[in-house]
Amino acid sequence: MIYQGVRMNIGKYDQLPVQVGQVFVVDNEEIAVFRLSNGDVRAIENKSPHPKGGRLADGLVSGEFVYCPLYDWMISLVDGKVQAPDRGIVKTYLIEIEGDNVFLIV
Ligand code: FES
Repeated sequence: MIYQGVRMNIGKYDQLPVQVGQVFVVDNEEIAVFRLSNGDVRAIENKSPHPKGGRLADGLVSGEFVYCPLYDWMISLVDGKVQAPDRGIVKTYLIEIEGDNVFLIV
């Protein structure tokens, strides 16, 4: 089966706030999008893998990591991995930038 992703235009690059999570909902799933200080744009599932399921878009961003606002787990915005000593992974999504436009691929 060929999986056909959804490619959603989520706005202009310049309008994405730096280091502040923005939430987009695709197919009832919340996705947190971050524009990093290095200029990259990253997208991850908006839910910490911790049982409390904190909303990652509300977390503090530092470099390529976000700290969950509830219990401070440090999660990579590049590969979704929770950093030691904690464990777990969140889904990551592809971002494409075309001219000024940012697309989220789900
Ligand atoms: S809810 Fe995110 S670390 Fe606990």
